Amino acid sequence: MRLARCFNVMDFRAAAQARLPSPLFHYIDGGADDEWSLRNNTAAFERYELQPSQLRDVSRIDMTTRVLGVALKVPVICSPTGMTRLFHHGKELAVAHAAARAGVMYCLSTMATTSLEDVARSAAGPKMFQIYVLKDRELTREFVHRAKEAGYDALCLTVDTPVAGNRERDRRTGMVMPPKLTWSSLASFVAHPVWSFHFLTDPDFRLANVAHRVDALGGGAMGLIGYVNSQFDRTVTWDDAAWLADQWDGPFVIKGIQSAADAQRCAEIGASAVMVSNHGGRQLDGTPAPIDCIRPIRDRVGDALELIVDGGVRRGVHVLKALALGADACAFGRPYLYGLAAGGEKGVDRVLALMRDEIERSLALLGRTNIRDVGVGDLRPKPLFNIPSKIVRGPSDSNGLRRPK
Ligand code: FNR
Ligand code: LAC
Repeated sequence: MRLARCFNVMDFRAAAQARLPSPLFHYIDGGADDEWSLRNNTAAFERYELQPSQLRDVSRIDMTTRVLGVALKVPVICSPTGMTRLFHHGKELAVAHAAARAGVMYCLSTMATTSLEDVARSAAGPKMFQIYVLKDRELTREFVHRAKEAGYDALCLTVDTPVAGNRERDRRTGMVMPPKLTWSSLASFVAHPVWSFHFLTDPDFRLANVAHRVDALGGGAMGLIGYVNSQFDRTVTWDDAAWLADQWDGPFVIKGIQSAADAQRCAEIGASAVMVSNHGGRQLDGTPAPIDCIRPIRDRVGDALELIVDGGVRRGVHVLKALALGADACAFGRPYLYGLAAGGEKGVDRVLALMRDEIERSLALLGRTNIRDVGVGDLRPKPLFNIPSKIVRGPSDSNGLRRPK
């Protein structure tokens, strides 16, 4: 499928599926247990309706905002995602470059396959580094120091992964890092020759930020669940988060918060923002959708924190609904990974441009000219009956239109 024939995020999902060997596609696409949270994250946006105001001059639209002390052209952040090399040889740099061009923030993961210094050197846009606390605690100190030296704008601590979620798709497909040809996955690799060619000719797969201290993959391929459960530190508490906020002494984000009480605590220990998130439904299944958590958290913390909705965002109108409920910005992971897998850096450019255009058009249709003015008056809860939209169900052709080739 050509990129120009992808008209929404789910088209990019279909294109990514066509490009990637199945263990890798399902590693991006999947969630934990029954994937209820994964589905609910997007479906929950349908419980709110936008309430347009007509006959306003919308000839000039301003989508700019400030989050975490940096100016963004659109209130969007690329969520941290590990092991980007698995999906395209352009790796994290492809995403960071596209994000910089689009004027959105890029968050680099601890589990990245590009070093934080390389990303900082070559991508000019706003940047954040995401920390997982590994058992080797010296690494955490090192991250703070390195991220400061490299000029990162913000630091993000992910707190919803003391142990790995139960990703059954990965178990079924035999997904390991680095990818390994096995008899059961061989057919899938042979069927995706472009990806396999790049992987064989440029097999540069390293967890670039940690491998010098924790070379757990040096001994051979390992499943993500095995890696997380053997390397991540389960003893992390609020004291560690407070220590990190103090050491960093700049915009500090806690990612994975879902309750008003925890958000309050984040404010108390000196965080500047939270990413309201259930890890895209990849950790504890059955948790509320981030969009449903915004109102209670905003009510509790007032202006003490910036709030970022992370999970399920697939449309520009989702961003508007999040802002109307009290969020400052939205973050997403899978949408840009689908774009990356489908078409490398150009694919990410396209996804970010689509999202930007959708936000701009929807803002005008809502009767607003400035994204910072979107508020609670632009929204109302949905009546109980629900008409599920197509994008939630995935790339089906049930609307009678054939998906473009
Ligand atoms: C993630 N996510 C994630 N989060 C994090 O803090 N550190 C990480 O290394 C990763 N790695 C990762 C890999 C992949 C393949 C995915 C899909 C996700 C979670 C991510 O930051 C974000 O919370 C979710 O992707 C948000 O949900 P959506 O936008 O994908 O629906
Ligand atoms: C994931 C880990 C890397 O969600 O956070 O796959």
